[in-house]
Amino acid sequence: MSNSRSATAIASPNIAFIKYWGNRDQNLRIPANGSISMTLGGLETRTTVTFDARLAEDLFLLDGTRTTDAALLRVSHHLDLIRELAGLKLHARVESRNNFPVASGVASSASAFAALTLAACAAAGLDLHARMLSRLARRGSGSASRSIFGGFVECVAGQDDQTSFSQQLAPPEHWELVDLVAVVTREKKPVSSTAGHALADTSPLQAARVADAPRRLQICRDAILTRNFPRLASIAELDSNMMHAVMLTSTPPLAYWNPETVQVMKQVVAWRASGLPVFYTVDAGPNVHCITLAEHAAEISRRLRSIAGILDVLRAPPGDGARLA
Ligand code: DP6
Repeated sequence: MSNSRSATAIASPNIAFIKYWGNRDQNLRIPANGSISMTLGGLETRTTVTFDARLAEDLFLLDGTRTTDAALLRVSHHLDLIRELAGLKLHARVESRNNFPVASGVASSASAFAALTLAACAAAGLDLHARMLSRLARRGSGSASRSIFGGFVECVAGQDDQTSFSQQLAPPEHWELVDLVAVVTREKKPVSSTAGHALADTSPLQAARVADAPRRLQICRDAILTRNFPRLASIAELDSNMMHAVMLTSTPPLAYWNPETVQVMKQVVAWRASGLPVFYTVDAGPNVHCITLAEHAAEISRRLRSIAGILDVLRAPPGDGARLA
């Protein structure tokens, strides 16, 4: 009988049009509000989990380097959830590789925990439905819940572990949107999302942002299902600005933008006013996600690259959900 069991999964990050910021339950990662995102094709995390009776502890290799810090603890903690579900006591070796730079401003925790969840469940012999996988992935990273699915995805906030999950709104081929990520820095962000979520309730604006979320979610859902670009553009920019307003008014305040961030945001608004379909959305970092239609992507990308301070422009169409390799 073999004393090791292994599985490999692939998952992509996602960009939220309606963003998750703040948790109702920080430990279970029950988000304060629902969110809607597009899974980003072409950008991939590939993770192999091997449960092995010969291991005395969990091992985590990220892009070939053995990690022993908080990242290993977070991975181990996540494996504990899956070990408990499967009634498994073995330690695991986790090898994860990204085909995009981790510090590129693309949230790697979403693809990381989606791939880890699927690979670990498969290696542990658990055959779970996508909804259950999305609940488990959420426990590792809130945004990872959405990366279980491809295309356009909604995370339903719910009230507890059972009612907080993601579901697909439309498959990748529904709409030829493209995310052009204007990379303005490659530095690691000074305050992690996890630490940021814990500050959200210190902002006097968070309650208003959360109370208005059902309205924004409804507009966003409708704009995606009817492929209404102007409607999606205005609600996504509003939502991004509302989240950054909360960040800026937290105690201590979180200011994720750089001068180049603001410059790109202003350019994008000006380009849209002149007739180009493009809008911005910014996560917990200074890089700007510029969303456009496939036929305009080359032109927008060219314009972004001509702005001083833009180090790179990544390009991602709607992509697939987490899958076994
Ligand atoms: C700004 O999912 O990265 O990207 O649950 O602590 O891992 P953790 O946080 P994370 O938060 C995402 C924040 C965001 C908005 C979003 O993707 O919805």
